[in-house]
Amino acid sequence: MPALGLMTLAACKAEQSALHPASQDARDVATLFWVMTAGGAVIWLIMMGIVVYAVLGRRRPVSERFADRFILTGGVIFPTVVLAALLVFGLRLLPGAWHPGAPDLRIHVTGEQFWWRVVYEGPDGARVETANQVRLPKGQEVEFHLSAQDVIHSFWIPPLGGKLDMIPGRTNILRLTADRTGTFRGICAEFCGMSHALMAFEAVVEEPDAFAAWLAAEAAPARGDATAFTRAGCGACHGVRGLVEEGAVGPDLTHLARRTTLAAGTLPMTRAALAAWLANPAAIKPDARMPAYGDLPEAEREAILDFLMGLK
Ligand code: CUA
Repeated sequence: MPALGLMTLAACKAEQSALHPASQDARDVATLFWVMTAGGAVIWLIMMGIVVYAVLGRRRPVSERFADRFILTGGVIFPTVVLAALLVFGLRLLPGAWHPGAPDLRIHVTGEQFWWRVVYEGPDGARVETANQVRLPKGQEVEFHLSAQDVIHSFWIPPLGGKLDMIPGRTNILRLTADRTGTFRGICAEFCGMSHALMAFEAVVEEPDAFAAWLAAEAAPARGDATAFTRAGCGACHGVRGLVEEGAVGPDLTHLARRTTLAAGTLPMTRAALAAWLANPAAIKPDARMPAYGDLPEAEREAILDFLMGLK
């Protein structure tokens, strides 16, 4: 069994593994996991030794005095000492989860069936909305304000920390400081409907300069010809800052083509994937609220794809 468990763990991808931590919080959780696993393994081996001895060992009855001592040691003293030690170890890690003072950056993330609305507080207090991708500067403390629009979701970037439930009508706070750059995978960790397993996002940790440049570019309005997009009614749900302002139901598409995935981590950001998504979202993501646009005239569809792929 332990061998099977370790094989399962070895199969985990580092980008989504809580055992490849990239922040102190995640490192504490990983340490706690390994210490608890080692403690559990030692207890398991001792128990198996006793079982084997009882089955195969000598049949000679033991003295009453030995039996009393064995029960006292194995049943009371041993678990008290071991469990108390593990408890103290776990409690000592707790203060690390407490973060006083103001954070360096706030990011508001809302879980919706089945995607993530991500809003940054921009440099001059501007509201910069994007979706399905979270970027954070290395070495800076980020405060996530987590909520949900419809049902309960859960925000988890295993290598960075979390997980924390996203509950409609309330805001949960999660502080994280990533200490190495990289691209990680965040997931929804609470069953939220048919496409719960297809609700993921990319978490990109980059150097503060690169992050600031990215945020400034993200805050800029979009450029392009939105005529076909608006004519097809896409603007009723999707906003494209600077071009199509009314839609706020679905993901903001302002700089869509700069993201690396589509449909909340489900598809790569390519023209072919975008065309497949437009034609029939439900085939890719059951119960997605996006309607199918499979019967658009080809010229209209190509014009929309041109527009969306140009949103860089
Ligand atoms: Cu959202 Cu599971």
